[in-house]
Amino acid sequence: MAPKKLYIKTYGCQMNVYDSERMAEAMGGEGYETTERPEDADMILLNTCHIREKAAEKVYSELGRYKGLKAARPDLKIGVAGCVAQAEGEEIMRRQPMVDLVVGPQSYHRLPEMEAKVRTGGKALDTDFPEEDKFDHLKGRPKAKRGPTAFLTVQEGCDKFCAFCVVPYTRGAEVSRPADRVLTEARDLVERGVREITLLGQNVNAYHGHDGGLAGLIHALAEVDGLERIRFTTSHPNDMDEALIEAHGTCDKLMPYLHLPVQAGSDKILKRMNRQHTAEQYLRLIERLRAARPDLHLSGDFIVGFPEETEADFQATLDLIEAVEYGSAFSFKYSERPGTPAAERPQVPEAEKDDRLQRLQALLTKQQRSLQDAMVGRDVHVLFEKPGRLPGQMVGKSEYLHAVHVETSGIVPGDMARIRIESSGPNSLKGVMSPL
Ligand code: SAH
Ligand code: SF4
Ligand code: F3S
Repeated sequence: MAPKKLYIKTYGCQMNVYDSERMAEAMGGEGYETTERPEDADMILLNTCHIREKAAEKVYSELGRYKGLKAARPDLKIGVAGCVAQAEGEEIMRRQPMVDLVVGPQSYHRLPEMEAKVRTGGKALDTDFPEEDKFDHLKGRPKAKRGPTAFLTVQEGCDKFCAFCVVPYTRGAEVSRPADRVLTEARDLVERGVREITLLGQNVNAYHGHDGGLAGLIHALAEVDGLERIRFTTSHPNDMDEALIEAHGTCDKLMPYLHLPVQAGSDKILKRMNRQHTAEQYLRLIERLRAARPDLHLSGDFIVGFPEETEADFQATLDLIEAVEYGSAFSFKYSERPGTPAAERPQVPEAEKDDRLQRLQALLTKQQRSLQDAMVGRDVHVLFEKPGRLPGQMVGKSEYLHAVHVETSGIVPGDMARIRIESSGPNSLKGVMSPL
């Protein structure tokens, strides 16, 4: 029998990317192969994000697009997974009756049973937070070769309850995977060609699956032969403990790049966001990190137009950004999320949010560009990932996560080389093999 085809579309954060891979593997056991074309699929699965209103609404417009396909082929099954599935559950089927299956991020190991149910014409809904470990049910992944970089979820869920955020509701309470399982998965990835692993968690530095916390896990991973680079994301400032700060100075495989969201620079707003730290505490933390690793590049997330944010509050965010100098950043207009405390507060007018976002992004882009330009003339280490757009070109990432293009023959994905940076473009660097 020809294999059935699964089309997965992934929205949201890196954890969803990881989860989509796991779902594809779980369905692989049921005879499904993945396809890039929804029109060829026997099952379409949207792995969704609920973080902002726009992200959630995308799901419904995407579902609308599949109406024709479903009408032409009634045996096409359509599923919604991820954080919208968790947040809206049955409501999705009510709004879009052609959806056959809804599965939350903590129960997707049950996909095979759910698929069997919808195959016989039923509907399936599972948004439980089950006791069993979903990762244990996802063993037996095929040993196929893979690219040089991979994500690996080590921690999931969040107990922080920032006043704007849905993640504690969609992903549930903080859970850490035991270190031995993480190490086994990492070794397996390395055997399949992976050179760089990014450890994932909604609050990855709250990881406690190793006696030594996340720092302990990183040091243990650094012992894995063939694994060259370790990164981790996303961290909360309050969980950056001494050992983890130190690891940035002592662990060669830990890359000098840290995503450390602060969201805002005004203490009034930080308090209302329930971030549990001040702007000054964040700046002191950055100082300690830079003392451990002077060339550390920082990245952050920012929200503008949080309820009751004044121009002076916004200015405090700009001041904090000036003080830190970010290598890259993500910034968003505050989006009201049903059920979160901030949604009940007096809102900032949309035009004001637009204006602040523009000003914030102008500053962040300027900083990003100047740190990138400062790479010209320096040597960096590049892990090559794939051919570039021009013939004979390869592209990879430096330790600072800058994309670097090199014209060269004889380099294949997975190779690492010392590259001298010659020029800096809008989104990437160009270099040549270093003469050293
Ligand atoms: N700690 C998490 C954060 C997830 S959300 C992680 O693992 O990535 C990613 C970013 O989205 C947050 O840092 C925040 O800047 C932004 N965000 C979250 N809720 C938001 C909302 N209601 N409106 C606008 N931006 C939001
Ligand atoms: Fe959301 Fe805050 Fe938890 Fe990050 S730390 S996932 S922003 S509640
Ligand atoms: Fe979105 Fe869920 Fe990730 S809401 S950002 S997909 S944890």
